[in-house]
Amino acid sequence: MTKSFELGNLNHVGVAVPNIEASIEHYRRVFNATDISEIKDLPDQGVKVAFVNLPSGQVELIEPLGENSPIHGFLKRNPLGGQHHICFEVENIYEALEQVYSKGIRVLNQPRIGAHGTLIIFLHPKDMNGTLIELMERPK
Ligand code: CO
Repeated sequence: MTKSFELGNLNHVGVAVPNIEASIEHYRRVFNATDISEIKDLPDQGVKVAFVNLPSGQVELIEPLGENSPIHGFLKRNPLGGQHHICFEVENIYEALEQVYSKGIRVLNQPRIGAHGTLIIFLHPKDMNGTLIELMERPK
């Protein structure tokens, strides 16, 4: 019997945007945000990301990278951009995967390294009240 896993902190909210540089400028101009990461290309995931750091977590700005980016469809439906996913921390991604899977939740990918350098999985929005959920292993 595996122990039940607990949901940890809300780590970030993922926001898909058509132009990440423009979005960073917007956060700076509107909110005087100063703590914003460099833009990183993640070709394996088909996205560019930058993080707006807040006392309680992050906003993850994501722009499509390459033809096969998984967020092209989302931006087609939401041309201005929009909230794309929310991400919770878990202690152990394999334990979390096994438990949500056993409860009938579709998991969209095998654990892979995400933007924070730890293992992540995504849960199907149709099984999660219409919201794409990312689970990430808490950075050690
Ligand atoms: Co994310």
